[in-house]
Amino acid sequence: MDPTERLLRACRGEPVDRPPVWLMRQAGRYLPEYRRVREEVSFLELCSDVERAVEVSLQPLRRVGTEAVILFSDIFVPLLGAGVDVEFTPGPTLARPIRTRGQVEALRAPDPTGSVPYVFEIVRRLREELADLRIPLIGFSGAPFTLAAYLVEGGGSRDFRALKRLMFDEPEVLRGLQAWLVELVVKYLNAQIEAGAQVVQLFDTWAGILSPDDYREWVLPVHREIAAKVDRNSAPLVLYVGNGAHVLDAAIESGADVVSLDWRVDLAEAVRRSEGRVSLQGNLDPAALSAPRDEIFARVRAMAAAAAPARGHVLNLGHGCLPDTPVEGVRAFTDAARALGDGAGA
Ligand code: CP3
Repeated sequence: MDPTERLLRACRGEPVDRPPVWLMRQAGRYLPEYRRVREEVSFLELCSDVERAVEVSLQPLRRVGTEAVILFSDIFVPLLGAGVDVEFTPGPTLARPIRTRGQVEALRAPDPTGSVPYVFEIVRRLREELADLRIPLIGFSGAPFTLAAYLVEGGGSRDFRALKRLMFDEPEVLRGLQAWLVELVVKYLNAQIEAGAQVVQLFDTWAGILSPDDYREWVLPVHREIAAKVDRNSAPLVLYVGNGAHVLDAAIESGADVVSLDWRVDLAEAVRRSEGRVSLQGNLDPAALSAPRDEIFARVRAMAAAAAPARGHVLNLGHGCLPDTPVEGVRAFTDAARALGDGAGA
């Protein structure tokens, strides 16, 4: 079974020889060759430099043996084309957070293929590079709630007071912003699929800051709308919800093909709750990649065993690779996945 077949089948809940493996944030600062590229260009320049973005996307393939490639970009890129002014310091920061009806109405009509054409050029180029290797290409987008959180707060936040103030005091402003973002995200993902992405992942990193009831009101309908409008026949949809153990049932009902779990969720429990409706992805604590190789192997075996009764399972982390991750730890993770196939140990 080649890596493309294995990933697509696992996402759709069809039998596979062993779970496929890739890592969120597998391209990035833990790789010396990434840091070398970053000495030449800023992060935003890198995202729009087709040659370099293709190179950086492919780096983890050679170095750590991952079995899927994710487009190198950032969840903020499609917003750049809509007139949002953002800097990376290193996380996204906005000089003028969006908090009023007037600002929401001033956002340009979403047109990602016109405004950030380089993203789709990167996707097309990657797909060509990967075709002979039979390595699948993953596209992605930030989810509306997480993008709204950054836009309203003006950056990362501890308690998201500005966002929650808008949610509780001026809900129609946040609804307007989310509606605009849904249109953007649907167009953005479908254009990536058309350019060659074979799986697409929606990152809702901050949706877990809501109570279960508020999540059902503000996030679940948005996911359902996206799942209904994205061309899932051409590319299965993966949904990642950060810190989302308390909203797992709602994530399972999102309409996504795969639910990507963070490490606080008990994998066996998630399998039971999924009742065969979705496949699961995850969910090793990214910090565990600094453990000895044997320990990483043992944890991968434990995850695979816990997820064995699931409809499908994609081995991954519970969040992105950390900048100080040892390269050997990432290599051990993908080696451990391959070892599941030949029944060997570390
Ligand atoms: O390999 C991959 O997974 C693809 C590339 C990718 C990046 N960002 C590259 C990046 C992906 C999928 C993202 C998504 C992203 N970006 C998310 C959702 C997933 C998650 O991690 O929760 C979020 C919340 C962001 C916003 C963001 N971008 C932050 C908070 C930061 C700074 C903190 C950090 O980890 O660096 C970024 C910058 C960023 N995005 C870097 C990379 C490689 C580091 C830039 C650099 O300094 O070189």
